[in-house]
Amino acid sequence: MNFLHLPSMLTVIILSLWEKSSCGAMTLNSVALPQVSRRARGGGAGVYSTQSRQRRSWVWNQFFVLEEYTGDEPLYIGKLHSDLDKGDGQVRYVLSGEGAMSIFSIDEDTGDIHTTKRLDREQQAYYTLKAQARDRNTNLPLEPESQFIIKVQDINDNEPKFLDGPYVARVAERSPVGTSVVTVVATDVDDPTYGNSAHLVYSILQGQPYFSVEPKSGVVRTALPDMDRELRDHYLLVIQAKDMIGQMGGLSGTTTVTVMLTDVSIKSYQFSVPESTVVSSVVAKIKALDADAGPNAEMDYRILDGDGLGTFRMLTDPHTQEGLVILIKTLDFETKTRYTLRVEASNRYMDTRFLSAGPFSDVATVRLQVEDVNEPPCFSPRVSQMAVSEAAPVGTEVGSVLAHDPDALNCPIRYAIDRKSDVENYFDIDRQSGVIRTSRRLDRELSALHNITVLATESCKSHDISLSSCERQVYLTGVSVSVDHSQVGKAVVLVSVTDVNDNAPSFPVEYQTFICENAQPGQVRLTCGLQTGIHRKVSECAEGE
Ligand SMILES: *[C@@H]1O[C@H](CO)[C@@H](O)[C@H](O)[C@H]1NC(C)=O
Repeated sequence: MNFLHLPSMLTVIILSLWEKSSCGAMTLNSVALPQVSRRARGGGAGVYSTQSRQRRSWVWNQFFVLEEYTGDEPLYIGKLHSDLDKGDGQVRYVLSGEGAMSIFSIDEDTGDIHTTKRLDREQQAYYTLKAQARDRNTNLPLEPESQFIIKVQDINDNEPKFLDGPYVARVAERSPVGTSVVTVVATDVDDPTYGNSAHLVYSILQGQPYFSVEPKSGVVRTALPDMDRELRDHYLLVIQAKDMIGQMGGLSGTTTVTVMLTDVSIKSYQFSVPESTVVSSVVAKIKALDADAGPNAEMDYRILDGDGLGTFRMLTDPHTQEGLVILIKTLDFETKTRYTLRVEASNRYMDTRFLSAGPFSDVATVRLQVEDVNEPPCFSPRVSQMAVSEAAPVGTEVGSVLAHDPDALNCPIRYAIDRKSDVENYFDIDRQSGVIRTSRRLDRELSALHNITVLATESCKSHDISLSSCERQVYLTGVSVSVDHSQVGKAVVLVSVTDVNDNAPSFPVEYQTFICENAQPGQVRLTCGLQTGIHRKVSECAEGE
């Protein structure tokens, strides 16, 4: 964050220098001869007096020379002149100090100063020299030694440079138009106090219409609303800085800015959760990215809103600082297939020094997709009671059962009788309709109640798990599931056999002849004596076999 603020301060400084330069404009080669200056000043500042030999300076204290002079002739800078010089050659001018004789030369007689070297202001902006005027014959000084400077005048010989470029910056997608992205700063080593050689103007060469740059400040801003990260997540901008206030003939430099769109506000995570997930399981983990370490990186997570408030809650993993989404209520794919939570992550400890740097929290959307778990068919009711007369012929319909597929697929159901519950094959069931019929003659006296188990399977699925949702409670409390039972739905059918001779009289002396119901074909038919009721008869039949 701070690195963004620093350059903008620099910009302010540069701008204020520009302002200064506009007040203190100087003219090129404003070489002033002493008499000219005296007149111009109108006897003002008392550095110089014609009457007094006590004057402190007889030389105009500043000369100018243009840098980067490339002409063949030595470049004229200015002239030393003493009022005592009558033009008769009696005065000898002497130059000493920085660059005297090497860079600057003086004509002893006329006082004319020239330079023979090409000067670079960016290397040395001014030279301090001393001037003397001596009597040619006696070599005694006619004037006090006077110090002056030669200032090297800037020309626009340096282009702006982006010292911090190329830039990488981030901005939240869908930011409003004008959102600040980054501030670019170019520097121009030309003299900022003179002319416009270092007066820069920024423009955008590439990146429109999405972004703009402020001409003076270099602040890059968004220029279009609704920039969608899903459509395009980064942009390459080319920003130019041009001196001479951006006018023709100014020098320019460019930099690139890579702008990444971030999804600060609508981060979205997707998880799938099997509907069979046990309550208090962790169903999703999210991690808030935080560059800090230690206590400063400790996070709190909470569910802001969404339709899963009563079904999930959030905790922080103390080791990883991840946000854990925990299931607190059983899921049912057939009731609700997806949940959406808006989740906030925030720093537990907030450093107030950095409050201005932005929010220390982030919001994300967590989507939880409930996965269907294949459940076996479910009978309703799970226990049915039926009755059939013992006189009913084979093939008589006793009743029917119905099971349904609790899964969304709604597969056709196939029925069967668990043969272990009807070893003697009294009953049959229609595979498709669930209609139960007798397959043998019944005998109430032999068996008044048949407890048969009916099975149901789905005909379109072959895989997987879990007990019937009729038994969901058991499963969700954590009983381990064995695959063998998984796909078969079961129901109990209790068939009572009704008696045709309900209150039949019993004659002890009278004998009836009948064939035992359970006699096999070809078996010897026995004559049984009926005496007191069915038990007697059963036992006799049993004995007879
Ligand atoms: C029928 O059999 C099942 C087991 O196959 C048993 O759980 C149930 O209690 C029995 N019902 C009756 C009425 O005997």
